[in-house]
Amino acid sequence: MYINKLELENFRNYEQQKVNLINGINLFLGDNAQGKTNIIEAIYICSFGKSYRTLKDNELIEFGKEYCRINLEYVKNNNDFTTSFFIDNLNRKQIKNNEIKIKKIADYVGEIPIVIFSPESLDVVKGSPAKRRNFIDMICCQLSKSYIIYHQEYMKCLKIKNSILKEDYIDNNYVEVLHEKMSKYIKDIVDYRKKVIDLLNKYSIEIQKKLTDGKEEINIIYNTDFLNMNEDEIKKYLDDHLYIDKLRKSAIKGIQRDDLEIYINEKEVSKFGSQGQKRTALLTLKLANFELLKELKQEIPILLLDDIMSELDSKRINFLLKYIENYQSIITTTEDTFVKDISNIKIYKVSNGGLEN
Ligand SMILES: Nc1ncnc2c1ncn2[C@@H]1O[C@H](COP(=O)(O)OP(=O)(O)O)[C@@H](O)[C@H]1O
Ligand SMILES: [Mg+2]
Repeated sequence: MYINKLELENFRNYEQQKVNLINGINLFLGDNAQGKTNIIEAIYICSFGKSYRTLKDNELIEFGKEYCRINLEYVKNNNDFTTSFFIDNLNRKQIKNNEIKIKKIADYVGEIPIVIFSPESLDVVKGSPAKRRNFIDMICCQLSKSYIIYHQEYMKCLKIKNSILKEDYIDNNYVEVLHEKMSKYIKDIVDYRKKVIDLLNKYSIEIQKKLTDGKEEINIIYNTDFLNMNEDEIKKYLDDHLYIDKLRKSAIKGIQRDDLEIYINEKEVSKFGSQGQKRTALLTLKLANFELLKELKQEIPILLLDDIMSELDSKRINFLLKYIENYQSIITTTEDTFVKDISNIKIYKVSNGGLEN
């Protein structure tokens, strides 16, 4: 699939902007603070129904305006589709796909598959476990509507459990009923995460070898307490650890503690990897993410690459450009020195909330 048109109205520093995108490399070039990332953010919002930069939707509205709107036109199997996002100052939000209102976001996420790679993505390799879970969850959510629902329901149970654990008197029976519900969700979530991580590993091994001339072997390990457990075993595990939860006044065990371990040549990259190895590992993971979505969705995801060219050396940039030349990507950059011998490219100059090409 690819996006052929993006229209912004009162979005961040864009008052009115229309842009026709090509099914190839779309390069947004400009100085800092001109509105490059805002373009990436707008497309992300049309995919996930929310921003990754803020939890407050109304921050997206241009200062002093009452609402903002993003319209997107995209092509899938030679058919045209539209998506629109609207939010006003009273936090009235509306997402429409082909003019039909989206009631539940789970019904919509995955319609426009994307892979986003920005300087903050490095947290997947060197940041907290939450960043790695988020990386996996973003993939799972784009693949499975039930995953989104199970995850939401699990998080609701966890919230209730945590509030109970803060109380002086704790009704064990009530918590165990919660555990019963949670163990069903845990089983499904762990199975799905496992499936995705196994596939990610498969693709990563190939890509990492190509990127490092066969010198580096990457290995991704899913770290969870619940691997190969059935629902009863999961419930028992949660019940057995309730005494620790009570001592800590917070749920200690659960999929909110899952993590990934990323190894290069059998050494954990977050602890022992050089800066260059961390960047290479991340590039590998993102391209593996792309391959995985492509295979499981039978559709080509859109690549959003925000300001990462300055983070990569010329060898990796060339590898990346070669990899993506036949797909649609939206790339932002302050410098275009790396653009050489690429045919399927369109350059847009970004300046103070305006574009020219
Ligand atoms: N709600 C808003 N209304 C108007 N301008 C905004 C809003 N939010 C952010 N901006 C402006 O957008 C610019 C940053 O855009 P961004 O796309 O992040 O820049 P960059 O080109 O560096 O990626 C800043 O000048 C900022 O003041
Ligand atoms: Mg930026």
